[in-house]
Amino acid sequence: LGSLISKISPNLIRYASSASASGSSQRKVAVLGAGGGIGQPLSLLLKLSPLISDLSLYDIQHTKGVGADLSHIETRTKVRAYVGKSELSDALKGMDLVVIPAGVPRKPGMTRDDLFNTNATIVADLVSACAKNCPRAIIAIIANPVNSTVVIASEIMKAHNVYDEKKVVGVTTLDVVRAATFIAEAKGLDPAKVNIPVIGGHSGNTIIPLLSQTSPPVSFSQQELESLTTRIQNAGTEVVEAKAGAGSATLSMAHAGARFSFAVLEALSGKEGVVECGYIASRETEFSYFATPLLFGRNGVERSMGVGKLSDFEKKLIEKAKKELNGNIQSGLTFAKQYL
Ligand code: NAD
Ligand code: LMR
Repeated sequence: LGSLISKISPNLIRYASSASASGSSQRKVAVLGAGGGIGQPLSLLLKLSPLISDLSLYDIQHTKGVGADLSHIETRTKVRAYVGKSELSDALKGMDLVVIPAGVPRKPGMTRDDLFNTNATIVADLVSACAKNCPRAIIAIIANPVNSTVVIASEIMKAHNVYDEKKVVGVTTLDVVRAATFIAEAKGLDPAKVNIPVIGGHSGNTIIPLLSQTSPPVSFSQQELESLTTRIQNAGTEVVEAKAGAGSATLSMAHAGARFSFAVLEALSGKEGVVECGYIASRETEFSYFATPLLFGRNGVERSMGVGKLSDFEKKLIEKAKKELNGNIQSGLTFAKQYL
């Protein structure tokens, strides 16, 4: 996998570059939850991209103001704002990519799973609308708990007979971003040049950084392996505690969401070799959903790149994640059955 990792999209995003955009390759993107802590800065970053011709902002609040504000920025991307359920269909028609950061964030002391009761219904309602209005769009899910919300989204699409497993993906890019940053800090490297696959899921023990596959190659002592892994797994909680009740990661997540979106859009427009990690229905692993590096293409995910050669330490991490990940997947399936 080492050589493939070097193909992962560069960490530094040239937000305002026009190098890879031409008129015909421009795409339509919707952000659902665009008025929120992630939604607003994510929409800003997307508005700056020449890859996007139309940016559709939807939320149950705040979008008219955010839309008016962003619409004054001197880029060609056309911003339209939609607020409330009655405007949801219009927000989705014609979209190529729908990014979903709608839902409540954690407060100190909560797990991501504690958000399930509120966010499962929000995601199910929004994805039902996607199934009806933009069934061929790629759906990128940020709302937590990602390990379950992606399962719910997939089941909803199946129930509407429009499921394409190449197109429903959980965004785990923030784990990759954090892992690169922490490794670079520990080893005195440029974080923008560090790439590392993070596999599994997006909560606690299920976040599995493959430090043995870091690019450029780096060696770690056992103590470094353990402390870096723990920090990467708890990085979300680090931010939740620092924000002390005011929510979870928003700005780094906006960056990660934009990085993921640009990767998808570049691949849709024909760029080859675009790889980003993501959580998706899985055939290569023993889990029915699992995050791996994914090769993107003109239709969404072309294929999973698999997990590569694992160290014994990493095999043990997967073993440890089993119960939680399978439980999260099952919760998603159970919820979807009741919802549908
Ligand atoms: P926030 O509360 O600041 O914003 C959420 C927005 O969702 C609000 O504007 C709210 O009005 C909107 N919303 C609620 N119900 C809606 C609905 N039915 N339709 C449309 N919009 C709706 O929260 P945030 O900090 O932006 O976080 C959003 C979600 O993202 C949380 O679930 C959080 O846990 C998750 N998150 C995921 C990652 C990740 O790596 N995948 C990282 C950070 C946060
Ligand atoms: C994160 O990793 O920052 C997000 O999943 C938000 C959270 O609750 O930690």
